Amino acid sequence: MADNAKLQVAGKDVEFPVRSGTIGPDVIDIRKLYAQTGNFTYDPGFTSTASCDSALTYIDGDEGVLLHRGYPIGQLAEESSFMEVAYLLLNGELPSGEELDKFTGTITRHTMLHEQLAGFYRGFRRDAHPMAVMCGVVGALSAFYHDSTDITDPHQRMVASHRLIAKMPTIAAMAYKYSVGQPFIYPKNDLSYTGNFLRMTFGVPAEEYEVNPVVEKALDRIFILHADHEQNASTSTVRLAGSSGANPFACIAAGIACLWGPAHGGANEAALNMLREIGTPDRIPEYIARAKNKDDPFRLMGFGHRVYKNYDPRATVMQKTVREVFDSLGVNDPVFETALQLEEIALNDDYFREKKLFPNVDFYSGVILSAIGFPTTMFTALFALARTVGWVAQWNEMISDPEQKIGRPRQLYTGPTQRDYLPVGKR
Ligand code: CMC
Repeated sequence: MADNAKLQVAGKDVEFPVRSGTIGPDVIDIRKLYAQTGNFTYDPGFTSTASCDSALTYIDGDEGVLLHRGYPIGQLAEESSFMEVAYLLLNGELPSGEELDKFTGTITRHTMLHEQLAGFYRGFRRDAHPMAVMCGVVGALSAFYHDSTDITDPHQRMVASHRLIAKMPTIAAMAYKYSVGQPFIYPKNDLSYTGNFLRMTFGVPAEEYEVNPVVEKALDRIFILHADHEQNASTSTVRLAGSSGANPFACIAAGIACLWGPAHGGANEAALNMLREIGTPDRIPEYIARAKNKDDPFRLMGFGHRVYKNYDPRATVMQKTVREVFDSLGVNDPVFETALQLEEIALNDDYFREKKLFPNVDFYSGVILSAIGFPTTMFTALFALARTVGWVAQWNEMISDPEQKIGRPRQLYTGPTQRDYLPVGKR
């Protein structure tokens, strides 16, 4: 048990308990700070704030470690499947063979959408960004499936979670099909979660679609790598939205909205666009110089991370997967060579070394997704699909926490002090 933390505020000494987790930094429990001192803490961007207890995911950013329920991400990515990881995150333990079959069967049988939802797509422009469509359609799920929205009932919460995990590939694939003007493809139950998604995305009714096992494995691995990531911006958004007791489908739509931004899930799209813009390795120095120039808002997309101050362990697996997919599909995209050289140059540059900026998961994911055939606008939609597992697991954990309260941060007010209203003619 760590000593209490002592703080002196305006001449008054106060003490706060220090709590220890199973691993990771201790936390100073400042819940009584305001009551005892009349002060708030100030931490915009939450760089020093733990917002909850969680037993799902552990990150050591300095060492480049990522564990789900204790299991290293490298082992999960190499040896397990997305369905297994989904089960692990939701239930706390890896499934037995029988549990996995049952879970996979349940997810498979929830993949179809209510047929009326197909009509929602027609309300969108064909050139709408898939994330705009995903926000809308996932939010619209809250107007259906009323039998799984009593969040006080653990069974209903689990049904809502299964539905979200199961329907997300169908929703994402339909967003793609709508954008290219092709008919929606219904799910097929004898395919894997990931194989089914590939078929719904790239298949057409006119012919059989054959799932390429190397692509299926690579995409499944990408899903594993994106499944959860502790209290990141979109997960915190889902928790905050859910803390008011909101409808689970609406909470996940809020997570999708947050994920869309280029500083978060949108980075994989931005990273590939950047690599294509750079085009050839000889132009790399120009972009490195821009990234270092304080007067230029340009950043190297796919580089840097709020938590990892070391190589993102997900990027390591991702880089290896690029080669496997390229070999299987016979692709030779020069963008990969540009990415490898950019990484090497940046890692040897003082600016990036001093600021501990390393490639993150998004640096290579776009290269793989593009080789598989996804347009860049779909990249973040795939991230949302995979992260749904983390979102629902974290949401379940929050709701079942007896100490759960509505999230309600405070502020440092910098606006005008009280003043009297003047009618418009007197201003
Ligand atoms: N290129 C150039 N400089 C950078 C970069 C970059 N990609 N990232 C950070 N810096 C600099 C930044 O200018 C700042 O410099 P200074 O201290 O001189 O002002 C310093 O490094 C610290 O940056 P920060 O913005 O204060 O750090 P943060 O923790 O708030 O931001 C980040 C983290 C991921 C938003 C940021 O690194 C970034 O914008 N990266 C590019 C976008 C990206 O790849 N995002 C994907 C994140 S991984 C996927 C996910 O989890 O969603």
